[in-house]
Amino acid sequence: MDLKDTVCVVTGAGGGIGAALARGRAARGAAHVVVADLDGDAAANVAQDIAGTGVACDVGHDGAVEDLVAETENRHGRIDLICSNAGILRSDAPGGHVASAPDEDWMECWTVNVMAHVRIARAALPAMLERGSGAFLITVSAAGLLNIINNATYAATKHAALGFAESLAITHGDDGIAVAALCPQAVDTAMARGARQPSGAGVDGIMSAEDVAAAGLDGLEQGRFLILPHPQVREYFQNKAENYDRWVGGMRKFRRSLVS
Ligand SMILES: NC(=O)c1ccc[n+]([C@@H]2O[C@H](COP(=O)([O-])OP(=O)(O)OC[C@H]3O[C@@H](n4cnc5c(N)ncnc54)[C@H](O)[C@@H]3O)[C@@H](O)[C@H]2O)c1
Repeated sequence: MDLKDTVCVVTGAGGGIGAALARGRAARGAAHVVVADLDGDAAANVAQDIAGTGVACDVGHDGAVEDLVAETENRHGRIDLICSNAGILRSDAPGGHVASAPDEDWMECWTVNVMAHVRIARAALPAMLERGSGAFLITVSAAGLLNIINNATYAATKHAALGFAESLAITHGDDGIAVAALCPQAVDTAMARGARQPSGAGVDGIMSAEDVAAAGLDGLEQGRFLILPHPQVREYFQNKAENYDRWVGGMRKFRRSLVS
């Protein structure tokens, strides 16, 4: 897929991977980049650097992504690429069991980590389908393939996000819609630094947001669905598919090494 001269929207782009995706898109020659974030000032700062548009947008708020899509289409005529990237981490209660996080955390993760992708696709697809072209780069996580220790809300919602990305690719690949799922392990961002519980996500090293964004944009350009910036993830995923029971045993052992 040729990403030159594309109109692009990036959510959660005030910092971390989203900001790196926005900057990366601009550096590769976008027609325009809309930088959306819960934190409007952070979005405006990134947008200023790349001559884009900064928008305050809570992707978990009713109507927010719909307004973001409508406004971008009105101003720029179309959206070629949506990097649906905003996501949140809510950990299990320290010392608590796997379902210890309160319903509010589960619902917030469901809303931001899953429904925001559904809603932004619902808003943007009609015009893309009419044109017969468009692309989605959905930031999931290796946790959507391989789970993650001490963060059940995150693991479950990232699996759901990957499931939705698969449905999008399967249903609309024949309509000219490109879909990629970006699934890194640990990335050096505020999210990883603020984690309340050991997750083991950094076991294979912590990548920079810039490297992860570059891998995402390269993968999208190459027409790949599954983008794995940490190469070890492919091997773990193969192991899981080959012997699911053995894989669960391996994860239990890994968990013991983190909590003991
Ligand atoms: N950091 C990691 O180790 C890691 C690993 C795998 C996947 N991811 C995923 O990458 C994505 C980006 O995470 P990051 O590491 O850059 O995190 P981050 O916390 O550094 O940045 C996330 C950005 O999203 C914004 N945001 C949060 N909630 C929002 C909302 N409701 N609406 C709009 N914006 C919102 C924040 O203000 C922030 O600017 C997430 O989907 C995350 O799950 C992160």
